Amino acid sequence: MNNSYAYRIEGGYPVMGEIACLGAKNFAIKAMIAALLGESPSLLTNVPAIGDVDITAELLTSVGATVERIDNMSLRIDPTTTSTSIVPVPHSGSNRAPILLLSALLHHFESVAVPVVGGCKIGARAIDFHLEAIREFGGVVDETDEGYVARRVRPLKGTAIELPYPSVGATETCLYLGVLAEGRSVISNAAIEPEIMELITMLRAMGAIIFTTPGRDLHIEGVRRLKGVHMEVLGDRIEAASWACLACASNGDVTVHGVRPETLGNFLSYYQQIGGGIELKSVGSIRFFRNGELRPAVIETDVYPGFSTDWQQPFAMLLTQAHGVSIVHETVYENRFGYLKDLSVLGAHTQLTTHCLGGAACRFRDKNYEHSAIILGPTPFKAASLTIPDLRAGLAYIIGAAVARGTSHIAGIEYLERGYGDIVPRLASMNLQIERVKIEAERGM
Ligand code: EPU
Repeated sequence: MNNSYAYRIEGGYPVMGEIACLGAKNFAIKAMIAALLGESPSLLTNVPAIGDVDITAELLTSVGATVERIDNMSLRIDPTTTSTSIVPVPHSGSNRAPILLLSALLHHFESVAVPVVGGCKIGARAIDFHLEAIREFGGVVDETDEGYVARRVRPLKGTAIELPYPSVGATETCLYLGVLAEGRSVISNAAIEPEIMELITMLRAMGAIIFTTPGRDLHIEGVRRLKGVHMEVLGDRIEAASWACLACASNGDVTVHGVRPETLGNFLSYYQQIGGGIELKSVGSIRFFRNGELRPAVIETDVYPGFSTDWQQPFAMLLTQAHGVSIVHETVYENRFGYLKDLSVLGAHTQLTTHCLGGAACRFRDKNYEHSAIILGPTPFKAASLTIPDLRAGLAYIIGAAVARGTSHIAGIEYLERGYGDIVPRLASMNLQIERVKIEAERGM
């Protein structure tokens, strides 16, 4: 990552061509941590070469696990060399992994210390469900100025937990805790995102006994040991949706490879409802294009199978080009619209409100968070300079710059490169005029 670089994009041309999705960031990191639970090495393939994977590899290495890059897309993780349970503070605020490590390592050590978690600043992103889960499994957790310390005096014991909200991270914590805990656990109101289901598949392959149900309950029978596995990271559904929005917003035509269509769920329906076109090609390939004039939409982000909060930003970008008034209600994070205000420099007409617009009242009702957006389109975009505030907003800005006529500059690309790999060559091959340039060389950056 380098703070002194920016993207220079000359927009106004349709983005056309083919792109392969990288492995899903939000599964790759969890799979790396799951590998620590095995008694033999795991091989992970289709691992994206992105900042968040590097950070997680550093965290694993810091406790003594051996992380070996076999090639650009494969990691071999040997948990048997793990030697300490103290994740050093320099990793403080890096990403979401430290809180997941707390439970994974607690099976191997009687005391584990991890630094505070980081990740995009899109809301409070509390971790109280994680800490409560560790306590329910028999651990004791202290919060210190520098992070969290979990202890246990005996092996963790299975339990019944109802999560207050189907949190992805807290569900992962419960899975890490439950698979090697003594006896049975039931996790109610669990998250069921595709990345969670994939983690369950990986843990099962390692020897875990986990039963899913028609609802949000997960039943786990703890086992004494798990073994290493070979796991291929599934294609990133957030990347796929981003490329779909880029194709449609720029009036282009893009075939995305390496994504399971079912993981895109309602996205494909909203996409077609507003005038996007899709064509299923061979297995794992979808063509995205525009089917005439774009229409507005009312969208509410939600936990799976709802419309993912991580699709919200590229889709909002698309809605700036739709004819009429669109509404987007963000119900997962209270503060994920900061980027939208900045879009006015490109020419977007948007308004934020603290009300729950367009759907049912959500957890953020009456809390003064600007978590609903009104988007008035279509507005022609003109080139501008923007600074990325968080990962997904970064991709939305790329779409904005691709639509805008003229040369835009996008700074803060270190946020984007934490989650999207090889952006410049992959997008340049689809006719997007994009370059990575040194900021000093650019006027006005
Ligand atoms: N929450 C709590 N307490 C907790 C845990 C969560 O109040 O202990 C709240 C959060 O504050 C938030 C909501 O529950 O309002 C959902 O949080 P969740 O735990 O589901 O999110 P996460 O595990 O921290 C992952 C992804 C996010 C994605 C969300 C929702 C990773 C590394 N991150 O975060 O991805 O938005 O699930 O699907 O898996 C991204 O990729 O850009 C990104 C932010």
